[in-house]
Amino acid sequence: MLDINHISKTFNPGTINEKKALQGLNLHLSEGDFVTVIGGNGAGKSTMLNAVAGVWPVDEGNILIDGADVTGLPEFRRAPYIGRVFQDPMMGTAPNMQIEENLALAYRRGKKRGLRWGVTKKEREFYYERLQILGLGLEDRMTAKVGLLSGGQRQALTLLMAALQKPKLLLLDEHTAALDPATAAKVLELSDRIVQENGLTALMITHNMTDAIRHGNRIVMMNEGRIILDISGEEKKKLTKADLLQKFAEVAGVQEETDAVLLS
Ligand SMILES: Nc1ncnc2c1ncn2[C@@H]1O[C@H](COP(=O)(O)OP(=O)(O)OP(=O)(O)O)[C@@H](O)[C@H]1O
Ligand SMILES: [Mg+2]
Repeated sequence: MLDINHISKTFNPGTINEKKALQGLNLHLSEGDFVTVIGGNGAGKSTMLNAVAGVWPVDEGNILIDGADVTGLPEFRRAPYIGRVFQDPMMGTAPNMQIEENLALAYRRGKKRGLRWGVTKKEREFYYERLQILGLGLEDRMTAKVGLLSGGQRQALTLLMAALQKPKLLLLDEHTAALDPATAAKVLELSDRIVQENGLTALMITHNMTDAIRHGNRIVMMNEGRIILDISGEEKKKLTKADLLQKFAEVAGVQEETDAVLLS
């Protein structure tokens, strides 16, 4: 479903601020793969997701989504294939619009029919059903402005919106980092459900190693713009946080103490 073939990206090349963020990165995801991504600050995790989403062109290599080469496509042309949720609950939804209007926008993304037609009764019933799944009571507040929702509620809604059109790829960048632990756990559980029920292929960045182990069928660790560890299946199920810290130290040659701080 996703092929990242030897991509590199250097920011501010030839200047004092030059940064090789991705260095010959390879990653291949099969349909239905749910991959958690860990790594220290600046390892290139968000840059990898930005490269896939087409935020800017990569310097070398190519990216295929479901077999189609999207390397040369701008962000808006890739958007129909991709659902994204960011760390900041303020992103991804329009605060001055109603919950149902936000859902309608997400649902009509890439389609000709704009919002000016209003939300139909049939659509409203569909959104009501989807919102019920969240278990947050939002289905009874469909005409409330999204700006009134809490961070957790907004992230849950963004997740629902990102999955509404069953994207080929769901990209989650620390999407629960700004939430309190209980809400974060709920939104993560919801992410699992949405990925499973829709059979989505997903990449989820997290700094929480317990979450990275618990969720998904595969875990990758990044360091200096490359993937330095890739564990799946039974081996992943047996993985512990201590294993991960040790592996990080082995492969990256970084002190465990530092990792413990970076990868809490
Ligand atoms: N648009 C940009 N312009 C310049 N440098 C950038 C840009 N985006 C990322 N970088 C740099 O590329 C490197 C990788 O950044 P990236 O955001 O991918 O790290 P990350 O693994 O997501 O880290 P974190 O865990 O802190 O979110 C960093 O050194 C960062 O400063
Ligand atoms: Mg990041």
